[in-house]
Amino acid sequence: MMAIISGRKLSKKIREDIKKDVSKLVSETAKIPHLVVVLVGDNPASQSYVKYKKRACKEVGIKSTVINEKESITEQELLTMINRLNDDESVHGILVQLPLPDHIDENKVIDTIKLQKDVDGFHPLNLGYMLLGRDGILPATPKGIITMLKSENINLEGKDALIIGRSNIVGKPLGTLLMKENATVTTAHSRTQNLKEKCLRSDVIVAAVGRPKLVTEDMVKPGAVVIDVGVNRVDNKLVGDVDYEAVKDKVSYITPVPGGVGPMTITSLLQNVVLCFKRIELT
Ligand code: GUN
Repeated sequence: MMAIISGRKLSKKIREDIKKDVSKLVSETAKIPHLVVVLVGDNPASQSYVKYKKRACKEVGIKSTVINEKESITEQELLTMINRLNDDESVHGILVQLPLPDHIDENKVIDTIKLQKDVDGFHPLNLGYMLLGRDGILPATPKGIITMLKSENINLEGKDALIIGRSNIVGKPLGTLLMKENATVTTAHSRTQNLKEKCLRSDVIVAAVGRPKLVTEDMVKPGAVVIDVGVNRVDNKLVGDVDYEAVKDKVSYITPVPGGVGPMTITSLLQNVVLCFKRIELT
């Protein structure tokens, strides 16, 4: 029996809970959780992600401010702005949408965001806490994937999980989180040999490389769990990294694109904003 894990449906449920939580926090503290999103330049994909984030905040009662900056902003100007947001007591979360223009060092930007306001969980200390299994803010996409797997009670204990992609945002942190769930993790990437063979022996496959239809039906073991993180625009349509139509009848669980990991990434971001708010205002 195949089941589709709908990130859209699960998000709807979780966002209702977040909304209740936010409403309670607002009456307890007389303050409103506030996320500031900084968008540099006019990358259409980034613009659309930011639009979804803003809409999701509104849905649950989180205040959001989007700061649009020209591509030509200097690194120093951006760092100065982040420092100002770090010091602004009405701001609980700071998110600088990536990628940034080449003349700006992303690492410097991420390092400058105050740890307590790092809603992306990209700060090296937050990533370090995650690696050590200590409390911190988890990156939104891997966190959303774990939430999806848990929502279906998928047992990861001792299972072979293959992550295709080693990005700082998805592949690397997800490996750590799957290991915490006692999976046996392999991370494949552009230099990996015999990818098909590795896929065929995996109980869980997570595709996160941005290559349309990279994972085909002949690469998937019957009954496997397939998580598709890909967001590719092909002929003006969004498609994932998995050949969904061909793969879906062979697996036990699969996530669609769109409507799978994407909405859960944003839901995890909302959870992170609430966590940052609680840490700042309630402790
Ligand atoms: N670009 C693509 N995904 C993300 C994300 O999760 N956070 C930020 N800040 N930028 C991104």
